[in-house]
Amino acid sequence: MLKKNKKNVPVLVVDFGSQTTQLILRRIREIGVYCEVVSYFSIINKIKEFKPKAIIFSGGPSSAFERFSPKVDKKVFKANIPILGICYGMQIICEQLNGKVKKTNKREFGKAHIKVLKKNLLFKGNLKVSSKSQVWMSHGDEVVNIPSGFEIIAKSEDNIAAISNIKKKIYGLQFHPEVNHTLKGKHLIRNFILNICKIKQDWKINNFLEEQTTIIKSIVGKNRVICGLSGGVDSSVVAALINKAVGGQLICIFVDHGLLRKDEEKEVMQNFKNYTNAKIIYVNAKNLFIKKLKGVKNPERKRKIIGREFIKVFETEAKKIKNVKFLAQGTLYPDVIESKKIDGSKQQIIKSHHNVGGLPKRLNLKLIEPLRELFKDEVRSLGKELKLPDNIIRRHPFPGPGLAIRIPGEITSKKINILKNVDHIYINELKKYNLYNKIWQAFCVLLPIRSVGVMGDSRSYEFTVSVRAITSKDGMTAEVFYFKENFIKSLAGKIVGQVKGVNRVLYDITSKPPATIEWE
Ligand code: XMP
Repeated sequence: MLKKNKKNVPVLVVDFGSQTTQLILRRIREIGVYCEVVSYFSIINKIKEFKPKAIIFSGGPSSAFERFSPKVDKKVFKANIPILGICYGMQIICEQLNGKVKKTNKREFGKAHIKVLKKNLLFKGNLKVSSKSQVWMSHGDEVVNIPSGFEIIAKSEDNIAAISNIKKKIYGLQFHPEVNHTLKGKHLIRNFILNICKIKQDWKINNFLEEQTTIIKSIVGKNRVICGLSGGVDSSVVAALINKAVGGQLICIFVDHGLLRKDEEKEVMQNFKNYTNAKIIYVNAKNLFIKKLKGVKNPERKRKIIGREFIKVFETEAKKIKNVKFLAQGTLYPDVIESKKIDGSKQQIIKSHHNVGGLPKRLNLKLIEPLRELFKDEVRSLGKELKLPDNIIRRHPFPGPGLAIRIPGEITSKKINILKNVDHIYINELKKYNLYNKIWQAFCVLLPIRSVGVMGDSRSYEFTVSVRAITSKDGMTAEVFYFKENFIKSLAGKIVGQVKGVNRVLYDITSKPPATIEWE
């Protein structure tokens, strides 16, 4: 693992298992302030390690008054660091400082309105005394007694909505300022970070680029680094970054499993040659993958087979290269957070994501993950700094197992071809009508269903495809992107008219949750 020198982290976000912890981090980084998430049970060590200037307690599903619910070491309240508690975070502040929290019969979920009761730095410039403002609530417990030294600075219709202890700089919000539905939420976070904690806005992606380049150079020395290239944003940015740091010492391996989009392999190779001077090894493993997937219908088995074979092929190629010491991977911050639960245990696996986590061990290589601290949009900004073109930076995410998980049921070469052609038409239409960049991810799924149709004067009996387009921030949740009727009608006509083997098009309008983005 690439270790950075000890550093200061100006804001620590203590996670109590909230669904919106990542949003808190996003809001802070958008202000230009660096922050990291930490677990509640290691907070004191993290304070010693990172010397934060602000601490934020996230919300969470537990009840603060329960004996074994997550709490912080009380020393945190004496550390002289400003604290902002959000929802459950505010409730533990109250419970741990001798206030009182109880189950409420006036639960608030969704939009609510607060009324400001007292002037406060947190509200400065945005919320005047007696004004009302829309917020987003999600709680089943309420604070009934605030600790001594605190005052109530806002109320909703039924509950205490905000508290503060000005002397100790400890604040609590019952609502979620990180969520867009809280109209003044961003301003409150800004006031806390900049005006109350007086933190400098010095988190800039070009500083990160310079810092990482220096670190990578010093760690890699004269050794070689290998990197798996998929053509997606993350691996392209990693490759460009390492290439900037150590030039030709980087060797990329591109395993073509044959489950890529139409002509993608050519595009990836071309892009790579245009934008880096690293070496690239192209491995054509199409036949191997199709053979291994023959007859396999179960989604998890498909994922496992692809993951396993990918590692084998990569390993074989990597072993042919001499003097390699490092393996670079495009792990992002959400992957780091998601792989751990707040208490350190593993989260329930919905799908086994294609990752090459076993590789460094098998190859006896040290891992370099320079994007570990970044969110996707920050990776895109970094790509821009590295002068990568828009067609790489703004590319929609594409899953490691590729089209295999977009063909429910058995995979055949014929089906892959059909899907490649359908997908090609779809993506081109999105680009033609300037929709591609408004959508987070768009793709088609080839369903294992045939239906009867009539084309010309003949009966057809062909496959069905489903069209999906979603908006999202990070892939954790997703909303459907609604097309205008004309667009979707004309798209369906083009797909059925131009791709042999398809006679019906469906439009998937399910959000995540309850569905996932991919079908398998
Ligand atoms: P789901 O289907 O879990 O997808 O809602 C969330 C996001 O992750 C992508 N995805 C993957 N990405 N390896 C990846 O690198 C995988 O195995 C994988 N499976 C899903 C998916 O395309 C979406 O953007």
